[in-house]
Amino acid sequence: MIFKSSWEIDLMRKSGRIVAEALDRLTRLAEPGMTTLELDRVAEEYILKRGGKPAFKGYRDYPYTLCASVNEQVVHAFPSGRKLREGDIISLDLGAVVDGYYADAAVTVPVGQVSEEARRLIAVTQESLQRAIEAARSGNRLSDISYAVQSTVESQGYSVVRLFVGHGIGRSLHEEPQIPNFGPPGRPPFGPTLKPGLVLAIEPMVNAGGPEVTIQEDRWTAVTCDRSLSAHFEHSVALTHEGTEILTSLDGAG
Ligand code: MF3
Ligand code: CO
Repeated sequence: MIFKSSWEIDLMRKSGRIVAEALDRLTRLAEPGMTTLELDRVAEEYILKRGGKPAFKGYRDYPYTLCASVNEQVVHAFPSGRKLREGDIISLDLGAVVDGYYADAAVTVPVGQVSEEARRLIAVTQESLQRAIEAARSGNRLSDISYAVQSTVESQGYSVVRLFVGHGIGRSLHEEPQIPNFGPPGRPPFGPTLKPGLVLAIEPMVNAGGPEVTIQEDRWTAVTCDRSLSAHFEHSVALTHEGTEILTSLDGAG
């Protein structure tokens, strides 16, 4: 695990702020008739205008700035000419890098009026991230974060995706530790103790049906095997001596 100094966390505040502002714009643009490629363009232009660079574009040959995953798509769906339709849910996953320091965040938003079930899935996924961030405190174990997600999600009858995990973040998009969204809490040997200087990208992916996902022919897009709806929220958070700070939120409150 890599521990960051306060000046490094300061740079990550900058990339975090850009990601937060871009996602805020995209959230408001995610209306029926909008294409996911248009959202990608807006995201890229905004990041560049603010002096950052897209974090995902070119990462392992990922071709876009944004991941735009609709309905049963879980994560990593390519932006395309697909028009959003009333009733869709879309996960917007975005990363930026400023002076070599990364930030990564995601939100899932409704397109127009969506079903009660879709609203509930989004709310539960967001709540699981909130609980996970509360567990991401110095002195706690990494496993407390995982348990916070799993217990929140499964108590509401939904399932946690196991194929993808959260991650440390800093001078690379993905650093140690990996952060599973499931597993028992606390105590050794269940993983490292959290300490100031850690910066973590916590990202629950939650399915309305079963936890299984499959990767499509494009080698990126993950979809639920049972084609049930899926939601994804992510924040990059810094553990400091003052407490846990969300780097990718506009108001610090998630
Ligand atoms: N939030 C995702 C992650 O942390 C986004 C990665 S997309 C990729 O893994 F293209 F960069 F891989
Ligand atoms: Co991430």
